[in-house]
Amino acid sequence: MSTADVVILGGGPGGYAAAIRASQLGLSVILIDEAQVGGTCLHRGCIPTKALLHAADVADTARTAAQFGVNVAFHGVDPEKLHDFKNTVVARLHKGLAGLIDTLGITVVNGRGRLTGPTTVEVGGTTITGESIVLATGSAPKLPGLIAPSDRVLTSDQALELETIPESAIILGGGVIGVEFASLWASFGTKVTIVEALPRLVPNEDAAISTYLERLFRRRRITAKTGARLTAVATDRGEVRVALESGEELSADVLLVAVGRSPRTGDLGLAEAGVALDRGFVVTDDAQRTSVPTVYAIGDIVGGLQLAHRAFQQGIFVAEQIAGRNPEPVADLGIPRVTYCNPEIASVGLTEEAARERYGDGVETVTYDLAGNGRSQILKASGAIKLVVDPAGTVAGVHMIGHGVSELIGEAQMLYNLGVKAEEAARFVHAHPTQNEALGEALMAVSGAPLHLHG
Ligand code: NAI
Repeated sequence: MSTADVVILGGGPGGYAAAIRASQLGLSVILIDEAQVGGTCLHRGCIPTKALLHAADVADTARTAAQFGVNVAFHGVDPEKLHDFKNTVVARLHKGLAGLIDTLGITVVNGRGRLTGPTTVEVGGTTITGESIVLATGSAPKLPGLIAPSDRVLTSDQALELETIPESAIILGGGVIGVEFASLWASFGTKVTIVEALPRLVPNEDAAISTYLERLFRRRRITAKTGARLTAVATDRGEVRVALESGEELSADVLLVAVGRSPRTGDLGLAEAGVALDRGFVVTDDAQRTSVPTVYAIGDIVGGLQLAHRAFQQGIFVAEQIAGRNPEPVADLGIPRVTYCNPEIASVGLTEEAARERYGDGVETVTYDLAGNGRSQILKASGAIKLVVDPAGTVAGVHMIGHGVSELIGEAQMLYNLGVKAEEAARFVHAHPTQNEALGEALMAVSGAPLHLHG
């Protein structure tokens, strides 16, 4: 088959979600990918890193079990078994996904596609025609020009494939990938130093969350050099050496470069086909339509949050749109953001700083320290939940840091996306004892009726 209602370039979360929903809505679909369906998320991103982070959590639990009165002898980490575990999870999920795609009758074409016109894509010399085309080719790690490739300089792709645990690591970039690898390597015994150009770790998060993270990372003996600029990198004598603008020199077994990801839009024929780009990202309207009306773009190639679940949602949206439905566009601010380091970070909506810029002085915030939460005490976990409320009393942002907070962001995102007033939400009953009660406490406090908070 070389003609379909929808032709999708890229089989990651955006592309495969679009393919599945389009097919469910009765459209014929051709899905093109040069590698396996599942994309970065399944093969080199979300899933394998979270598998390793879970193993890291198990290692930490084993190492600290005695504080709960449980005696366990921790004998370290077996890198081979660790990778088997990670690879098995990926393989199982891939099998399930490939099976679903097959069951739905979606045609998968293996090869590198290139847009050749408003309704045509070329793959390995064959032209494939679609009434609509969806671009979903994702992103790739950035490597600054200053850094020459070497076997000790890793991107997250290579870091995931390392067959040994490095004794020491320098991580360039204290964003999401940087702190997740710092966390898991530290749990496996690596001596980690993060070098971040901006004044704080996870600079896209609320400043209070960065402060907590830096404090809790210090307790874990993870060193963070913030406001630090790299001036030179050299690999020799079995190590990688990094010079900073301050004059300081660092050396380690490996250097992980985690300074962001670039959209994969080069070499796709986009400019020639008339698809407008802005600094490499595809320009779209609210309906994910590019400057060529039959061509849509979703996921990491569109500026904004580079998150798998944003791509899923955009993929579903585009498929429904092509099928003639009238779906709601997806706004980035309502998308939950989760970083799976230890402690985890989860947030939705505006930071305090962004809320003050938007609404002025009438913004209110409450931060509930998890030290006052029963469940956190049982878990021996530190952290906080910060609530930001706009001058009308509506939830404008929720920022969490602590053990397992990734699973707590659901309620917060409902409050934010439904535009719920804090006072109304304060009447919801939160199960006791849960860490989620901290959100309830913050809601009560910001509504002027705190129960356990004072001061
Ligand atoms: P990022 O944008 O989150 O962080 C990059 C960091 O590197 C920033 O803090 C930046 O200030 C810093 N930086 C840039 N150039 C630098 C330099 N020359 N020296 C020192 N620091 C420098 O990008 P990251 O961590 O590479 O992740 C890429 C994308 O993947 C992000 O958009 C992220 O959201 C996504 N991702 C999401 C995950 C999740 O949702 N849990 C997990 C991993 C990645």
